[in-house]
Amino acid sequence: MDYKQQIAETIYSVLNEHLTLEDIYLLLEKPKHAEHGDVAFPAFQLAKVFRKNPAHIAQELAEDISSPLISKKQVVGPYINFFLNKESVSQGVLSEVVAEKGNYGHLSIGNGGNVPIDMSSPNIAKPMSMGHLRSTVIGNALSHILEKVDFKPIRINHLGDWGTQFGKLITAYKKWGNEEAVRAEPIKELLALYVKFHEVAENDPTLEDDGRLWFKKLEDGNEEAVELWKWFREESLKEFKKVYDRLNISFDSLSGEAFYNDKMDQVVDLLNEKELLTMDRGAYIVDLEKYDLNPALIKKSDGATLYMTRDLAAALYRKKNYDFAQSLYVVGQEQSNHFKQLIAVLKELGLDWSDDVHHIPFGLITKDGKKLSTRKGKVVLLEDVLNEASAQALKQIEDKNPNLPDKERVAEQVGVGAVVFHDLKNDRLNNFDFTIEEVVQFEGETGPYVQYTRARAMSILNKAGVTTVESANSLALTDDYSWEVVKLLHDYPHTIRRAYENFEPSIIAKHAITLAQAFNRFYANVRVLDAHPEKEARLALVSAVTDILKEDLRILGVESPDEM
Ligand code: ARG
Repeated sequence: MDYKQQIAETIYSVLNEHLTLEDIYLLLEKPKHAEHGDVAFPAFQLAKVFRKNPAHIAQELAEDISSPLISKKQVVGPYINFFLNKESVSQGVLSEVVAEKGNYGHLSIGNGGNVPIDMSSPNIAKPMSMGHLRSTVIGNALSHILEKVDFKPIRINHLGDWGTQFGKLITAYKKWGNEEAVRAEPIKELLALYVKFHEVAENDPTLEDDGRLWFKKLEDGNEEAVELWKWFREESLKEFKKVYDRLNISFDSLSGEAFYNDKMDQVVDLLNEKELLTMDRGAYIVDLEKYDLNPALIKKSDGATLYMTRDLAAALYRKKNYDFAQSLYVVGQEQSNHFKQLIAVLKELGLDWSDDVHHIPFGLITKDGKKLSTRKGKVVLLEDVLNEASAQALKQIEDKNPNLPDKERVAEQVGVGAVVFHDLKNDRLNNFDFTIEEVVQFEGETGPYVQYTRARAMSILNKAGVTTVESANSLALTDDYSWEVVKLLHDYPHTIRRAYENFEPSIIAKHAITLAQAFNRFYANVRVLDAHPEKEARLALVSAVTDILKEDLRILGVESPDEM
């Protein structure tokens, strides 16, 4: 049920089409203070129609409005404030949640359309950074939000597995590399080789030439170059997979930049055909001055293609292969310019679907106020963070609940959950400074707090001897504490819609926190297990909260242990 919708309909029926139903719906507000009711209708817009002052109109209109859903009306100046009938709203909302469980809040918006999500996309032979973690968890949450509104997400890990850096890496490996060392600790060893390359190259510029040469060989399919590249890629993927497994994230495609190597000529041909390529100091570019952007670099003077060229090929490929409704790129805001250029070039090519391509940027994670940089070795290793968080969680469990079955597993769910939730709870564009103490916090607005609240709700159901409430004679609730919870459950479909419209997982995280807080206030003030005419309805509320908190966490990619 949507009580806003029903109130809008009631107002509509007495207004004789002076406003459309949709206009009325959009005008309805939530009063700032609970003592002003649950929904408010401002009468300003009607002043012109009736040629009377809004306060007068509000007064007259209020007299004509009546509905079993409304228990009280109050006119304050130009506003009509409605107090809802708690019993009928809670009856309506709870019966829906109880029947639909996790499916509650599913919206038919996307008609099953495909949405490729370019996410995670770390670079081979380098450690996965906190930035890649952000892309991974934001992309994963978005994929669940999209599913929830009836799209079909396709998770693509557009691996950084091509480019001049692989020429450098091959050069460094051939000069200083050691097979055993790479096998033992691939990413650490390959990163060390890459760093050494840059150090030595500072005094020996011929090294850069070697690097370029090896990349050219790689592009031309030279056997030795390809073998080494393949090996670096495999070893790196093995390490990335360890992290993905812990985060419970899988991909539908691992086609990264290299996959587009043989699709580059098509891009260049297409740009040529549309007469978009110009020559600039031996390189091919697309001029984007009319978009107020720097030119897009397509092909370097030595014939090598670039990040942009591969992204153009990927965009065309995804349209052809998935016939997408939308195509998303979850990549840090430092690449905003790149994606503006990409979309502009697609537009120049006359492709009307360029409007369906969206860059979903996110803020930077800094350490001690400074940017993290792989080249300078200033990195936060994701695995270390996850390990630390799980260890802290285990310590807390040992302290508070030492007899908990399956301790290690729960600790992992809580620790990883803390890291993921911390990343998703703020607007994705916010920058934040990384401190391990902050990330592994378990109190306040954190993932573990939500997990813990849900586990507590589960234990109430257990004590009552019910595991889940499927039906009840009456779901009517009348107290103020359950009312706050009911309203949040009622808002759930709207929350999902807003999260989708803004591509913003933090909206789900905030809903989870607010619902957990409202539930804890309810539980502190209402005796759920005592005999009471509303006992059955109260248990149904508890059951509904366990389902929706679990669903919120699932969407965010966080697990819900039943006990902790
Ligand atoms: N590998 C890139 C990086 O780490 C991110 C790739 C993002 N996806 C894309 N289609 N450009 O910076």
